Amino acid sequence: MNKEQMTLMNQYVADLAVLNVKFHNMHWNVVGERFEPVHVYLEKMYDDFFEKYDEVAERMKMKGEFPLASLASYLEVSSVKELDLRDYQIGEVLAIAKDELEKLRKLATDIRNVADEAGDFVTVGMMEDHVEGYDKELWFIESALK
Ligand SMILES: [Fe+2]
Repeated sequence: MNKEQMTLMNQYVADLAVLNVKFHNMHWNVVGERFEPVHVYLEKMYDDFFEKYDEVAERMKMKGEFPLASLASYLEVSSVKELDLRDYQIGEVLAIAKDELEKLRKLATDIRNVADEAGDFVTVGMMEDHVEGYDKELWFIESALK
């Protein structure tokens, strides 16, 4: 695996790890009349991040690399901004989720393109599936925000 692909995949692993915590924060602290569906929806999303986190790291192992595997390294590499402890209104939570999913979509697309140049079609297929999933979640969120 070339250095560019390794750097991007490690960033993806780190972002997914930090987002797992960030989405738990919102899952616990969201407030409002429609609390329950949003609370449940956020759980669905962090479960998905957690699965992707392991999937991407294992793909790196298959290619002979060491994926980042410490919280300290995740915070160093990830560009995700964590949230304070307070109540979060539903519209605010959905806007944050939308922003994070757009960033993940972009990163997965960048990995897809770098892997494609390197002939790593398994990673290409994996990232295309991720982008497809993000498109669906973004459609849900954008519809909820209308
Ligand atoms: Fe929970």
